[in-house]
Amino acid sequence: MAGAARRGGPGPRRLLRLLLLGAAAASLAGAQVTSETREVPEHKPADIPCAAFRSGWSNPRIEWKFQKGSSLVLFYYGGELTEPYKNRVQFSPTTIRFSTVTRADTGKYICEVVGDGSQIAKSEVNLIVQVPPSKPLAHVPASATIGSKAVLRCAETDGSPPPTFRWYRDGALMPPDPRTSPTFRNSSYTLDPATGELIFEPVSAFDTGDYYCEATNNVGAPQKSDAIRMEASEVNVGGIVAAVVVLLMVLALVAFGIWFAYSRGFFQRKDAAGKKVIYSQPSHRSDGEFKQTSSFLV
Ligand SMILES: *[C@@H]1O[C@H](CO)[C@@H](O)[C@H](O)[C@H]1NC(C)=O
Repeated sequence: MAGAARRGGPGPRRLLRLLLLGAAAASLAGAQVTSETREVPEHKPADIPCAAFRSGWSNPRIEWKFQKGSSLVLFYYGGELTEPYKNRVQFSPTTIRFSTVTRADTGKYICEVVGDGSQIAKSEVNLIVQVPPSKPLAHVPASATIGSKAVLRCAETDGSPPPTFRWYRDGALMPPDPRTSPTFRNSSYTLDPATGELIFEPVSAFDTGDYYCEATNNVGAPQKSDAIRMEASEVNVGGIVAAVVVLLMVLALVAFGIWFAYSRGFFQRKDAAGKKVIYSQPSHRSDGEFKQTSSFLV
């Protein structure tokens, strides 16, 4: 929320559209949507309740949907489970029970109940199948120029719920605010525990060191990445050498091109044509024919 507000927040038109969408959704579900989050360990059974079900309704028809990202699968309707849920899910009006869940089952389960007399209710369960984090990958630049900006990233894709990240330099935990720590008070950085991004701005001479990151969620043990060295240097020597080499090569090419064109008479006009007459113009040819043959020489 704070991030959205800093970016200026939604414009009035967007806000209006959100309100309209919200009103439409509320009327569709009869304002009876309940939502909850459940965490279940991987490879264990999971119960998902249908809070929308009312035993008092006559002849209720129940539908279950599974939403993950942009995909939506209707897997229970007309009193039947579809494949592949048939073999792994037990249905009752109040609950569906998975005999065992995998990480692929993480997502939103939507139960919709329609009764006779246009009653309608909907409930949602956000299922998080718990997976411990795997070893994260640290992206650390080998060298960083003092006074410029350096971005370090920590990547981990298995953890569920999504892990939070911490960074270490030479084995010392980096606090969220470097000014609070005697070890890091000469550094100027920000770190985002949710994305794993560590940004030095500006890089200082004190930032040279071996960096590694750590991913943690509420499942299993925290996982550390390999340590990678970052050298803070006054100027980017490698970059300057490369730039100079490229510049010299370009200059040499241009000089060669000019010399080549010049030596073939490209810059000489009528004078040169006059000279060439001596070597190559056959006596019986006209001046026009000669110009054609000489253009092949260039
Ligand atoms: C911080 O900078 C001061 C002054 O340059 C220096 O004396 C001190 O050792 C530095 N501290 C750390 C932890 O690097």
